[in-house]
Amino acid sequence: MTTKQRINIKVNGKAYERDVEPRLTLADFLRHDLHLGGTHVGCEHGICGVCNVLIDGRSARSCLTLAVQMDGAQVTTVEGLRNRQTGQLHPIQQAFVDAHGLQCGFCTPGFLMTTLELLGENPNPSEDEIKEALGGNLCRCTGYESILASVRLAAERMRASA
Ligand code: FES
Ligand code: FES
Repeated sequence: MTTKQRINIKVNGKAYERDVEPRLTLADFLRHDLHLGGTHVGCEHGICGVCNVLIDGRSARSCLTLAVQMDGAQVTTVEGLRNRQTGQLHPIQQAFVDAHGLQCGFCTPGFLMTTLELLGENPNPSEDEIKEALGGNLCRCTGYESILASVRLAAERMRASA
């Protein structure tokens, strides 16, 4: 029997104290312990990027991260994007809707979180910089053009409202 370890973690601004198995991934912790199912799980090998979240502001694969490593960390998931007061979608989410950046939507949370990191660091990325940033996210549906258009639109709108 493994001994659970206590972690204190903030997810989308809310503090949690939980006892977790040492082998529990952050992805499973978010989905099963906190019931935040917006973080998807695909390959579970660090390849597809659908499980991306922000850990202390940096995008990371939650399938390759252990929950016990998150003691003291601040995690942002796709559920944290929507404006809590107004319920409005984040401009990145709205841009993906408006520019048809998703079809089945399975990959979308990962793309949104990666884009959030990109535009936080670089509000006016070039086409190559967008492709470079999104290079670790896979989509089986869209052919990527509409995703690139969504990121460009989000960047444009966020710059305009800054
Ligand atoms: S599920 Fe984490 S990278 Fe694919
Ligand atoms: S929209 Fe279906 S995998 Fe990307």
